[in-house]
Amino acid sequence: MDTLVSVGITGVGGYAPPGILTNHDLEKMVDTSDEWIRTRSGISNRHIADAATATSDIALPAARQALERAGLAAEELDMVVMATFTPDYLLPATACTIQHALGATRAGAFDLAAACTGFIYALNIVAPSIATGQFRNALVIGGDTLSKVTDYTDRGTCVLFGDGAGAAVLQPVPAGRGLLSSYLRADGGGCEMLYIPGGSTRKPATHETVDARDHFVKMSGNEVFRFAVRALEEAVLEALGRAGLTTADVDLIVPHQANIRIIDGAAKRLGIPEDRWVINLHEYGNTSGGSIPLALNEAYEQGRLHEGDVVVFVAFGGGLTWGASVLRW
Ligand code: UT7
Repeated sequence: MDTLVSVGITGVGGYAPPGILTNHDLEKMVDTSDEWIRTRSGISNRHIADAATATSDIALPAARQALERAGLAAEELDMVVMATFTPDYLLPATACTIQHALGATRAGAFDLAAACTGFIYALNIVAPSIATGQFRNALVIGGDTLSKVTDYTDRGTCVLFGDGAGAAVLQPVPAGRGLLSSYLRADGGGCEMLYIPGGSTRKPATHETVDARDHFVKMSGNEVFRFAVRALEEAVLEALGRAGLTTADVDLIVPHQANIRIIDGAAKRLGIPEDRWVINLHEYGNTSGGSIPLALNEAYEQGRLHEGDVVVFVAFGGGLTWGASVLRW
């Protein structure tokens, strides 16, 4: 074990498509109001991809930015991981499309499916391979084009979701820095609380499944909400405990951007002051796999990340999955 090296994030990037869907636009599409959406979720805008844009297209600008900031050439990459549940195709992995477009000619590539917790899963599954020297580095991307699987006749979901991606380059860093701990959980018993019933092997696409709108996300919003507040609190405390830290040590916390009331609820339970939380859901809505790396990128661009800071990522989502990770920046 004494050959293990510390692994950290050496470059970040983010991208959201330019098209914007406002609450006022949604008022014309479903029975809702700007006031309801803002007070119940905190969201005002979402960025929406056009018809020609797929998930790899929004992942690529984020990936290129992260590589540039890390000072790493694509040909030097050993692994590309894409955390998404809205791949370009069911087959092959979107990570392969990204690997090819980047010119990462010496890299392996695979997708990881853990919905909104996907970026945290990917970081913590890949980092040990760098720590042991199996890979020299990895590019971890989280991103979803949720607008492609959102039912814009369902007001319970369509007001929440948007499109976006973020990326991080993982490399060895000086001892004591980088990833300190993780806590990753799942409960498949909650599968149908947040899922897409049709279009895969359980219910392959037919005219009937399309007519029934089964290829869109279905969600029991209320149940997910109750699970989310508990999951955020549990994951943050567990991951901090595993790093030998407490909530008082947290300099910055980047939560999954699902609903401001979920974040406020968790912040109160944890007693982590408001100014430590990175929040951008008012502008992007819930971008699932893109949520945490997109917010991380914004924090980086705003100069909110300082060397030595204790940074926490925490998420919950479909699966159900939830988890957290602690890093020293
Ligand atoms: O990545 C994880 C993804 N999922 C989540 O994080 C979702 C977690 N859940 C939530 O964010 C919230 O549960 C929602 C925002 C989805 C809903 O908020 P809520 O405060 O839990 O509302 P509710 O479901 O209890 O519904 C309250 C009322 C209902 O009307 P009635 O039955 O009281 O007459 C809904 O039909 O609000 C109605 N409603 C809406 N009204 C206007 C639901 N959606 C809308 C809407 N506009 N968009």
